[in-house]
Amino acid sequence: MSFEPPPRLLLGSGPSLVPQRVRDALAQPTVGHLDPFFVELMEETADLLRATFRTENAATLPLSSPGSGGMDAMIANFVEPGDRVVVAVNGLFGERTTDALRRAGAEPVRVEAEWGRAIDVDELRSAITPDTDAVCVVHGETSTGVCQPIEGLSDACRDAEALLLVDCVTSLSSQPVLLDEWGVDAAFSGSQKCLNAPPGLAPFTAGERALEKLRGRASPPRSWFFDLSLILGYWGGEGGRVYHHTAPVNMIYALAEALRIVAEEGVEQRWERHHRAHEALRGALAQLGLERFPPDGEELWALLAVKLPDGVDDASVRGTLLTEHGIEIAGSLGPLAGKVWRIGVMGEGARPEPQERLVRALSQVLGRELEPALEALHAGWAPAPA
Ligand SMILES: Cc1ncc(COP(=O)(O)O)c(C=O)c1O
Repeated sequence: MSFEPPPRLLLGSGPSLVPQRVRDALAQPTVGHLDPFFVELMEETADLLRATFRTENAATLPLSSPGSGGMDAMIANFVEPGDRVVVAVNGLFGERTTDALRRAGAEPVRVEAEWGRAIDVDELRSAITPDTDAVCVVHGETSTGVCQPIEGLSDACRDAEALLLVDCVTSLSSQPVLLDEWGVDAAFSGSQKCLNAPPGLAPFTAGERALEKLRGRASPPRSWFFDLSLILGYWGGEGGRVYHHTAPVNMIYALAEALRIVAEEGVEQRWERHHRAHEALRGALAQLGLERFPPDGEELWALLAVKLPDGVDDASVRGTLLTEHGIEIAGSLGPLAGKVWRIGVMGEGARPEPQERLVRALSQVLGRELEPALEALHAGWAPAPA
């Protein structure tokens, strides 16, 4: 190889640690995007995605784009110009969704909470009027480390004949995501968070109500590339698979391997491990003076957002962690910039060893006592008494 990336312990907001098995899959020889071997792998990948999303949706596939393309695709296909769309906004990704809705010619109706808080589901429900066409919710708000409840929205959406559209980029495979049970009509995610594949793919799924809206549109989606009816011709059309674009073959190898790892662990066991990892790290960091930012019960298990203690310089601590310890954690954006750190608890990062490395490094850089933090970490991971 002509270059060598530095070894990094990725414990930020994504990308996350990519296991060797996934890197090996990525490095396998490229085959054609209609090769029978690849077609079989596409089918397996779609099945594994269905299991992870907890959906039976036939239209389930990885879009050839990062997570942002999932957002664009969802809006391009299932929102029409002039639609009234209720949108939950309590962080950066809710803001982006609003922006994307405006660009699509929709009329976004914002239901807001301050950054760092979940939005009351009743408040969202009461914004859904009979003329509402869709409701957009970010399940895992990565900018603040908050998990937004979705359960309880679908009845109101169905009464209004509105679609429920969900961003689960950061929550997928780390916290219960029960799309069919929750009545979600379409959702997207990203390959680089809790699935531990490299960035570049957006797992995507759409149910019958969403596809019906697509079929009944007054005009086709403005985006040719993200027109789902064209993409489905390649990912599972009735007349066989037809060329749409050249799929990123090796990235799909990587995603398939990452999803096999999820399936081997078991999705529910994986949720449980992330919950435990979140709480163990939370306890350890509290001993170093870093308190969690979101209140109890509103936290996103995959991302621990903590408040910086007074007098601690954001950029210099993160810089030292990266250059001297090879560890990446994330700062914050918007109103939280310089005030909150975001620490990934994603897939391979949600384990005792990487967390211990972080705790040791942080205690050194912050000049805080290590032992109580390590004790809290180990207690958090210790098996529960029988
Ligand atoms: C909640 C959420 N939505 C959308 C995105 C966009 O994903 P990508 O950066 O892969 O385009 C991200 C990325 O961090 C995210 O956290």
